[in-house]
Amino acid sequence: MSKHFDVIVIGGGPGGYIAAIRAAQLGFGVACIDEWKNAKGGPALGGTCTNVGCIPSKALLQSSEHFEQAGKHFAEHGIQVSGLGLDLAKMLGRKDTVVKQNNDGIQYLFKKNKVASFHGRGAFVKAAESGYEIAVAGAAEESLTGKHIILATGSNARALPGVPFDEQRILSNDGALRVGAVPRKLGLIGSGVIGLEMGSVWRRLGTDVTVLEALPVFLGAVDEQIAKEAHKAFTRQGLKIELGVKVGEIKSGESSVSVVYSNAKGEVQTLEVDRLIVSIGRVPNTIGLNAEAVGLKLDERGAIVVDDECKTNLPNVWAVGDVVRGPMLAHKAEEEGVAVAERIAGQHGHVNFNTIPWVIYTNPEIAWVGQTEQQLNAAGRAYRAGTFPFLANGRARALGDTTGMVKMLADAATDEILGVHIVGPMASELIAECVVAMEFRASSEDIARICHAHPSLSEAIKEAALAVDKRTLNF
Ligand code: FAD
Ligand code: NAI
Repeated sequence: MSKHFDVIVIGGGPGGYIAAIRAAQLGFGVACIDEWKNAKGGPALGGTCTNVGCIPSKALLQSSEHFEQAGKHFAEHGIQVSGLGLDLAKMLGRKDTVVKQNNDGIQYLFKKNKVASFHGRGAFVKAAESGYEIAVAGAAEESLTGKHIILATGSNARALPGVPFDEQRILSNDGALRVGAVPRKLGLIGSGVIGLEMGSVWRRLGTDVTVLEALPVFLGAVDEQIAKEAHKAFTRQGLKIELGVKVGEIKSGESSVSVVYSNAKGEVQTLEVDRLIVSIGRVPNTIGLNAEAVGLKLDERGAIVVDDECKTNLPNVWAVGDVVRGPMLAHKAEEEGVAVAERIAGQHGHVNFNTIPWVIYTNPEIAWVGQTEQQLNAAGRAYRAGTFPFLANGRARALGDTTGMVKMLADAATDEILGVHIVGPMASELIAECVVAMEFRASSEDIARICHAHPSLSEAIKEAALAVDKRTLNF
């Protein structure tokens, strides 16, 4: 006998668990099926983000930043540190505790919202009169039926052709977060978000890090001026970034990995490293869903095809997050999850793709929302740009962290803010004001006229807004 639910969510990452909670808040009977296993084989809700993504990477970024500050920067503040040491096992253990707190938090939220949680793999069996029949294969076998199905099965790391992840020498984001000893030499393929974040973690802990990037430009999706500033900062820190490379043969031995590649000049080089992280993007995950059983449409990349409202080709089957088009970001997945639950309830859930913020949690942090100068130029849109350096910000000086700038782009005629780009301290937090401003379709003058606390980093946002009209006060 099947258990029936109004809504069955497959996948308990940020897209799925948030959709399940919102659907339950709206009064639906909701089940969420998730197959992630913790080290003991038990459930570990939260998906990639909580288990091997956003949360553990930020825990290690924080710990490694403390280590670097203590070793290299405390002295500037008159703090003498002697006998500084690294207990990597403890650092990794703390990261695991932070992950578990998040896993447990989601379990608690499911109980609070009466979401039925099933641990195992969910797969379509067939379309049924009452919706769809879904089989759960795990510790216990279950048969469920659901009127609405929300697919939130996420993504997996992309491997280089013929170079599978062994998570010992050749690492995906998973292995990269649990290297048991600080590598002497680390190679990274791909200088995208994971490459820069994980490269920063291990560099701060003492590893010699080389990043090999296929594209001739650094962080091509980022505003060029901001990307240049970030590149300068990272190379100053000792991160070796080679652009325009072509990766060839990769050989993994007992204790090292060798990577043959040609550099931008076409010269053939060999990089010998203890470990290699491959971070060349992620692929949507529909493995095990049995999509064929119901005729669920996938595109050539394996992503589930959806329309603007996250509807698939099947009635009452929805898909959100990394498994569909759009940026692979936790907050994008969450927003889609909420919007879908609200649409099922007959409401008008909406995700504004123009105001999804991006953050790279390096030091300096990089954050942006809206369009870059390159995009505006390509679209032929007339704009005015204002920049303000953190060097001229009192709080940044007090913090001892003056790298970077804020750049605001506003429409030349209407002054509406079209994009804000930040490289510098706490960019991840500062960008929130800019997202709000853009959601409310604010002008640069609106921001310039708003009182910002002194001394605060947020004054750099106000000054960048003033700079659009060429009237900064502190620069
Ligand atoms: P996922 O989080 O991948 O969750 C999918 C879940 O579905 C998983 O638990 C999986 O086991 C389960 N599942 C799959 N198939 C089935 C099935 N058939 N049955 C049952 N369960 C199934 N994004 C940010 O916004 N900020 C960050 O700082 C950030 N840092 C990141 C760092 C790293 C190293 C990585 C790899 C990613 C990072 N991301 C970050 C991206 C973010 O993790 C993803 O965008 C987000 O997790 C996508 O959420 P999702 O719910 O779509 O999928
Ligand atoms: P990415 O798309 O950010 O970067 C991949 C990089 O690899 C690109 O620069 C690409 O040009 C390069 N590349 C591709 N093939 C290559 C090859 N054969 N040789 C050399 N370089 C090659 O992907 P990444 O870093 O794997 O991260 C995946 C996704 O996870 C991100 O796009 C992002 O959506 C998400 N993420 C988000 C974070 C955040 O929000 N802070 C942190 C980490 C990941």
